[in-house]
Amino acid sequence: MSNSLSALLQAAADRRHDLVSRLIAEDTNSYRLFHGSVEGVSGLTIDRYGDLLLVQSFHQPLSDEELDEIRQFYAASLPELQLVYNDRSNANSRISNTLSLAEQAVAEENRVAHELGIRYHIRGRHSGQDPWLFLDLRAGRRRVKQLAEGKSVLNLFAYTCGVGLAAAKGGASFVMNVDFAESSLAVGRANAKLNSLTTRPRCVQSDAFAALRQLSGIGQPKMVRGKKMPPFPTLEARQFDVVFLDPPRYAKSPFGVVDLINDYQALFKPALLCTAPGGVLICCNNVAQVDGEAWLEALKRSADKAGRPIKAVEWITPEEDFPSLDGQHPLKIVQLHV
Ligand SMILES: C[S@@+](CC[C@H](N)C(=O)[O-])C[C@H]1O[C@@H](n2cnc3c(N)ncnc32)[C@H](O)[C@@H]1O
Repeated sequence: MSNSLSALLQAAADRRHDLVSRLIAEDTNSYRLFHGSVEGVSGLTIDRYGDLLLVQSFHQPLSDEELDEIRQFYAASLPELQLVYNDRSNANSRISNTLSLAEQAVAEENRVAHELGIRYHIRGRHSGQDPWLFLDLRAGRRRVKQLAEGKSVLNLFAYTCGVGLAAAKGGASFVMNVDFAESSLAVGRANAKLNSLTTRPRCVQSDAFAALRQLSGIGQPKMVRGKKMPPFPTLEARQFDVVFLDPPRYAKSPFGVVDLINDYQALFKPALLCTAPGGVLICCNNVAQVDGEAWLEALKRSADKAGRPIKAVEWITPEEDFPSLDGQHPLKIVQLHV
């Protein structure tokens, strides 16, 4: 690929010319520069997060020559950026390449990235695998920020609470982020402190099933089939004007199984019951093989069955730094008026 790599990077930069001007104008300096699966090198992604240039390979490691070519290309066009390379072609997408001490210092530096006028903590490497902000979800955060004024917002599977922060910045009256990973919520809390907000988002460390069952009024028993459940925080039943549901592809916990291919409904139904009548439920599904229309039909059936039919549907499409050849984005985001 080496002969044409610079040409592919240049074509990707040309394609983003207008988008990047718009993003910079709205105080966004974090976006995907190269989306390899569609732009010519399968498994290679290159992202900008403020002054960090994050290169990741998911299928096979880059050769030294390829990495040099990438370094030289961006040294010419974006000289202020510092490159960090994470090879994630091993099992479970774990970062596996070792860095020199100097490279490690660059990778572990605390940085601040901007998106839609919001500041986010970012590092090239930290104790987890994924960057602290998923860039393809910008379209979702943009929508929540637009909808949030005066609204109560529930952000499920919050990770580092980007959606909750967008809601708070958009003027939400109340924001609740739910995730079972304290380390991710800690980044979310630090992100909230980085921004001037009129409301401090609440971060609830809880299994999403336990939180959803309580908030929706279904209830979460402490014993299930004779087995004691792990402890979980108690939450009062309440409904929200806006609910954002962005689960991982698959996750198993004592409280339930998250399975976006076979059982989205297990999450969708309680999330729907947590959404106030007249409110908005935004659902995401990041499994490429799931067909958007078929998934939406299943959501509609589930909503009918729950006695809360969907009144209107709007698709939210990832922005142009995540191009798609056929319009079938792996990440599907749908806004449901319920
Ligand atoms: C794909 S990320 C969600 C991304 C997030 N919505 C965002 O805006 O960046 C998945 C998150 O789900 C959390 N998670 C997985 N299973 C969970 C469960 N049963 N209960 C609560 N959180 C869970 C993980 O800790 C992780 O932060």
